[in-house]
Amino acid sequence: MIQSAKSLKDFMSKDNVISTTIPDTVLNSRVYIETYGCQMNVSDSDVVRSILLKEGYSITNEENDANIVLINTCAIRENAEGKVWNRLSYFQSLRNKNRISKKQKFPYIGVLGCMAERLKEKLLDEESVDFVCGPDAYRDIPRLLNKVSSTDQKEANTILSFDETYADISPVRTSISSSAFVSIMRGCNNMCSFCVVPFTRGRERSRSLSSIIDESKKIIEVDNIREIVLLGQNVNGYHDISEESSQKYHFRNSYNKSSELFSNLFESRKKKMPGARFVDALQEIAALHPEVRIRFTSPHPKDFPPEVLYTIADTPNICASLHLPLQSGSTSVLERMRRGYSREAYFKLVEDARKIIPGVTISTDIITGFCDETEDEHRETVTAMEQIVFDQAFMFCYSLRDRTHAAHNMNDNVPEDVKLRRLQEIIDTYRKALIKKNLDTELGALRLVLVEGFAKKSTVDRILLTGRTDGNKRVVFPYHKYIFKDLSISRDTVQSVSRILNQVDEMIKYDDKNIENSYKSRIEELQLNDSIDNPLISEDLFGKYVVVKIIKAGGQTLHAIPISVGSIEKYGSKGFVKL
Ligand code: 5AD
Ligand code: SF4
Repeated sequence: MIQSAKSLKDFMSKDNVISTTIPDTVLNSRVYIETYGCQMNVSDSDVVRSILLKEGYSITNEENDANIVLINTCAIRENAEGKVWNRLSYFQSLRNKNRISKKQKFPYIGVLGCMAERLKEKLLDEESVDFVCGPDAYRDIPRLLNKVSSTDQKEANTILSFDETYADISPVRTSISSSAFVSIMRGCNNMCSFCVVPFTRGRERSRSLSSIIDESKKIIEVDNIREIVLLGQNVNGYHDISEESSQKYHFRNSYNKSSELFSNLFESRKKKMPGARFVDALQEIAALHPEVRIRFTSPHPKDFPPEVLYTIADTPNICASLHLPLQSGSTSVLERMRRGYSREAYFKLVEDARKIIPGVTISTDIITGFCDETEDEHRETVTAMEQIVFDQAFMFCYSLRDRTHAAHNMNDNVPEDVKLRRLQEIIDTYRKALIKKNLDTELGALRLVLVEGFAKKSTVDRILLTGRTDGNKRVVFPYHKYIFKDLSISRDTVQSVSRILNQVDEMIKYDDKNIENSYKSRIEELQLNDSIDNPLISEDLFGKYVVVKIIKAGGQTLHAIPISVGSIEKYGSKGFVKL
């Protein structure tokens, strides 16, 4: 049964375990956090880091240096849990080696997240696990750690909450990046028949819009973040019913679901209440800074009322990129999955999105071999992949999860080899269709890329940068010393520049020593001298928008040549024309 989580205060008054002075055991503790699974877990680990730092713990990135190891886990499929079991045995062997005396275990190991919630105290039977903490109980980690280290007993808190959103905790992000996750809601009420998430993450609840705005402002102004990814298990089900929001946003009858073609088996009463909806959150967050991109994940296709699509279309800094998990292309499988839509309803949503947001990219999730899936039903998923042409797809074999509707009422009866063969067919179909689409729409196009850093294949001799387009496609391009700082020039000039750079790129390939002089003289012709006199170094481009021309478009990664530093304001994020 789901119960309300205790607050930190409850623990302080009852056990008085959190003292005002930091105990030595805490001061000398170095915590290593390892994260598996979705972006929500990455974001939750940032919350855990913040909680621990506030209590006086220090954080280490070196597992060998840690005396506390926290593993933030995923339970969505069996193989996600398999990875965690392997890590637990590894850490157990490490601590056997490190064990100083029989009493002193070293390091302490805590299992957090969805696997902790799913298996609860059962995990404590493992020799390697000292404590278990579910996704809604992270404020309790200091108490759990204190108990474990002072009594040498195992501990667990897997209480789920109706209202915990960690809204008041400033996440401590570890990756230095121009992009940051901001969690806006937690939990999921959808109860798709295959999915364990409603059981591991609990009921849907939304964070107050004002706390989201405060955090977003801070990361934009202080941390110089240029891309905010709004997170939630059912992100577009966002509904802040706090008093403040309820006064500002009245109930709107129009705001219910994508269309009459979509249904919600588990519609909550809250849906009929006033308060800020997803569209309001999108608009308010996008209005904070015109040069900060907004993305969101992971939504459900049922919660895309037209106003969300129009808002994306009309707001230059909301990316024209939608994740629409299809799961299956067959209406009968979708019914068994309890997804609340048919193949036709999904196709209609894609058609509407493409009409309203020209150039929108669409990504998806697919499950193959769900209970009773026939060959014909599988073919319908294959044809859906052919007809829709997804820009990205995450494809999985069905994995039975205990407690779900499917586990109780259906048969996991598609043999493993059939699941795998169907998965491969779906992957092949998706790839083939995507390569063709990228050649048609991306090759030769100008795109605005937000630079994230050096590409994996970057070397000292040939610096390669990487970033993403508005449509969330990864782009790799070589760093050019004379990339223009400000392309306040006409489209004609862009064409000339891209032609020159193309030639330069050819010269680089053949190691032509005249490259610099040749490039310089061509640039001089175009009177863009400032770029020559004060060239930008590669790191200057991190977190900046760069206009690039796509010169190679395969499946996942696009290759490009950079032309100029750009901005959303000048180029708009959408609709770059083909030259
Ligand atoms: N088996 C396989 N894939 C699953 N997903 C969720 N539950 C399962 C399961 N039991 C996939 C869905 C979902 C994505 C996050 O993980 O496609 O959209
Ligand atoms: Fe799972 Fe369905 Fe909720 Fe997604 S919407 S988290 S698939 S129950």
